[in-house]
Amino acid sequence: MKTTRRLFALLLAGGCALTAAGAMAATPAEVAQAEYDEVMQKTPDVDNGRRAYLTCAVCHLPEGWGSVDGTYPQIAGQLRTVIIKQLADFRAGNRDNPLMYPFSVPGILGGPQEIADVAAYVAQLPMTPHNALGPGTALERGKQLYEENCLDCHGADGRGDVAEHIPAVAAQHYPYLMRQFDMIRSGQRKNADSEMVKQIEGFGPAEQSAVLDYTARLRPPAEKLAVDGWTNPDFPHYVRDALGIRARPPAMPRTPTPSAEPPPAE
Ligand code: HEC
Ligand code: HEC
Repeated sequence: MKTTRRLFALLLAGGCALTAAGAMAATPAEVAQAEYDEVMQKTPDVDNGRRAYLTCAVCHLPEGWGSVDGTYPQIAGQLRTVIIKQLADFRAGNRDNPLMYPFSVPGILGGPQEIADVAAYVAQLPMTPHNALGPGTALERGKQLYEENCLDCHGADGRGDVAEHIPAVAAQHYPYLMRQFDMIRSGQRKNADSEMVKQIEGFGPAEQSAVLDYTARLRPPAEKLAVDGWTNPDFPHYVRDALGIRARPPAMPRTPTPSAEPPPAE
């Protein structure tokens, strides 16, 4: 009896040791969460964030507007907590992208303080009034789908949620939304929200296009949008178009020709 109890105690201790070892080999999601918590303790220095943003501008452009073909997302005006979470996820390997990864690592971006700084800088940049939209052919359906499936989390006007670090999706480039939606549904985007994955399970191509076209057309409050023709005065010497990144859709008639297909990637 006594031996059995001692054996049991031993087994229990062994089990605890194993759990402790398991906790030490943290998953990418846990590493990212720990860094997120650390960043949230810092007081951001926007001026230092502006300096750190210089490397980001190469791809996301000085304005943070990304590219209309959806390769580079618009990050201007994104919620601070979302930017922090995504940066922590990229560098912990909890979200994969070969372009973004090398610029997220500590050797380039810096530590938790620099993440706090650059996130604060990006969050206050005004957003493009000319993000890429979808075909515009099923907006009523898109509205209905959005209200039934997305609104609870992403907010009535696509404004996201700071406390829950749910991305603002209003005025994001339509092709980027399409690409992320595909990656979230297929499980390719590791940090996808499991509730969202369940919610979009039944979406076919027509529903996806409709809801994301509607989402891309949601307008942030006027004070978050840049005035037409705005360029970021913080980077007066930036050489534009060096990489051929298009921040604005090409000039075209106000009402694009109806088409069921998303615009082709450039
Ligand atoms: C070499 C190009 C490149 C550079 C430089 C770069 N990024 Fe990115 N970034 C990307 C790409 C591409 C994506 C989209 C990844 C994907 O498709 O999953 C991205 C995504 C992001 C996202 C996630 C946006 C979202 O809504 O999901 C954030 C935030 C971000 N970048 C911030 C930054 C910051 C801050 C810097 C500078 C420290 C930076 N990036 C530098 C290419 C780059
Ligand atoms: C249960 C809450 C929830 C629901 C419902 C939900 N989402 Fe999400 N969504 C999230 C969260 C949380 C993320 C960010 C996950 C992460 O990377 O941390 C996200 C990410 C996204 C992204 C990627 C954004 C970016 O900037 O990278 C898109 C696009 C998106 N959702 C669209 C939708 C659409 C459209 C619907 C409805 C059809 C929807 N979501 C329903 C919670 C939700």
